[in-house]
Amino acid sequence: MIMQAEGRLFITGNSSGLGYALTRHYLEQDWHVHGCSRRGCEGLGGFLSDMRMDLTDFEAIPVCLDDLLGAADELDLVILNAGILGEIRDIATTPLADIQRIMNSNVWANKVILDWLIHSGLDVTQIIMISSGASVLGNRGWGGYALSKAAINMLAKLYASEMPGTHIVSLAPGLIDSDMMSYLCEEADAGKFPALNRLREARKSEAMQTPAEAAQNIASVIEELRGFESGSFVDIRQILAPDLYASLYGK
Ligand SMILES: NC(=O)c1ccc[n+]([C@@H]2O[C@H](COP(=O)([O-])OP(=O)(O)OC[C@H]3O[C@@H](n4cnc5c(N)ncnc54)[C@H](OP(=O)(O)O)[C@@H]3O)[C@@H](O)[C@H]2O)c1
Repeated sequence: MIMQAEGRLFITGNSSGLGYALTRHYLEQDWHVHGCSRRGCEGLGGFLSDMRMDLTDFEAIPVCLDDLLGAADELDLVILNAGILGEIRDIATTPLADIQRIMNSNVWANKVILDWLIHSGLDVTQIIMISSGASVLGNRGWGGYALSKAAINMLAKLYASEMPGTHIVSLAPGLIDSDMMSYLCEEADAGKFPALNRLREARKSEAMQTPAEAAQNIASVIEELRGFESGSFVDIRQILAPDLYASLYGK
């Protein structure tokens, strides 16, 4: 008997952190997961189609997506998760090339993917673009990353009006103890950039999610996200931890 997948997910950046945990979560739910990253996602069973892809190679993306998704005719969920942080430093001293590198990974790669999805004619039910609280908080030091995530929020809004059959949100997933967080908590200069102290305190508490917890939390709000207007920016804490959300955003 041929097993039927419960759903179909395309996710970017699934070799580590949140992307790996989401891949694992959906495979465990018997979904067919199509994933991509540079390092690849290994050691997981189930319906996994995985491809090594550098999302900053814009010309290669459509060719790789033809291979990875060409046989599919619909996707229940797309999670545009891949992202880089860059160095925590003042924006005035950050070379433009560093900011452009972050924008290429975090923003323009997603534009190329979204354009491919539109032109492929694939039926896509829901897209989650992984954003960050940094997209609105504007803390000193988060320069290129904050700019890129603010652009993600606007990209979600713009594409929402051009993809009326697809529900899109940009989603801040809360704090996650990934490689990115290790840099923020262990290497970046908390003396100069005090917003790092909140992360370091959170790392000692339940406010810091493991990647598996973050994946579980995102999966638990998938339906609820569709109650927001397509194109919205949503911070998962406004759904799951309203007090934390209020104190973070001063609401
Ligand atoms: N950690 C947090 O607290 C936090 C908070 C808010 C938002 N986020 C967001 O959550 C997402 C996942 O981050 P994470 O914390 O899980 O960090 P992570 O462990 O560093 O994961 C980043 C993922 O992005 C992939 N990636 C980066 N550049 C790529 C490229 N050029 N081509 C293909 N894949 C690329 C990486 O794969 P390869 O290196 O194998 O290519 C990796 O799988 C990011 O968008 C991040 O901004 C994280």
